[in-house]
Amino acid sequence: MQEVDFYNQLAESYDAMTRFDERLGRERDLLKFWVEAGCWQTVLDAACGTGLHAIALASLGIKTTASDASAAMLEQARRNAQQHGVAIDWLHLRLQDHGQLEKNVDAVLCLGNSLPHVLNAEELQVTLQGFHGLLHPGGQLIIQLLNYDRILARRERVVGINSDGRRDYLRYYTFLDTLLRFTIVTIDRGLEKLQTTLQETLLYPYTRTELEKALIDAGFSAPAMYADLNQTPWSSETSRDLVCAAAKPE
Ligand SMILES: C[S@@+](CC[C@H](N)C(=O)[O-])C[C@H]1O[C@@H](n2cnc3c(N)ncnc32)[C@H](O)[C@@H]1O
Repeated sequence: MQEVDFYNQLAESYDAMTRFDERLGRERDLLKFWVEAGCWQTVLDAACGTGLHAIALASLGIKTTASDASAAMLEQARRNAQQHGVAIDWLHLRLQDHGQLEKNVDAVLCLGNSLPHVLNAEELQVTLQGFHGLLHPGGQLIIQLLNYDRILARRERVVGINSDGRRDYLRYYTFLDTLLRFTIVTIDRGLEKLQTTLQETLLYPYTRTELEKALIDAGFSAPAMYADLNQTPWSSETSRDLVCAAAKPE
């Protein structure tokens, strides 16, 4: 799977690129609101990456399971959890395979633009049905992805340019027929000789309408759509992200 190779290669620099340490406290505060409002006690964080949200949840006292398809990302996640002194149940699992789990949780999270790695409508349906099967009646699914309505309308190619002091990262899209090619160029200044690497993977840019329909088809009630985890109202034109909260009917 091309996305697994992509993240296996990225795992070592992922936390520096996404500013893990700086974000952890902020994400914990944001999730605390959802935990309390939904009375969550058990959560599964799907496509957990290096464990940012799983660690935030576990540190709030939530019984947390976290899954990812990349062994290297999970390895880094384990190290991060150990460093923060929290216990998490780790699963090496593709998003598309959650239907095979025998588990029931109060909430499933799929955050940080992970869902676009599921590249077509059939696999999206299998993934969402898998999440649905994991939830208790009344349980919640929270999905966070970039606002592709805006990105597609404006043909926005640049996802981000940032630096962790040692490495510079340029992230950008190339628009293909229905998919996006996502490229990360890394310039490493920490070595004797400047080193540039280029990594690529494919994404499906789900729009709000596509996601809403897929969730309803998978058995969820009509989702609420926000701009962020603070529940700011969503705007197709200005929001950076789309946060989608759907419930499994009681
Ligand atoms: C952009 S990262 C987001 C990680 C984390 N949720 C966060 O917010 O920091 C996307 C993650 O999805 C994982 N991933 C990509 N395709 C996947 C798939 N088909 N099944 C499971 N995980 C996948 C990658 O290994 C990576 O850890």
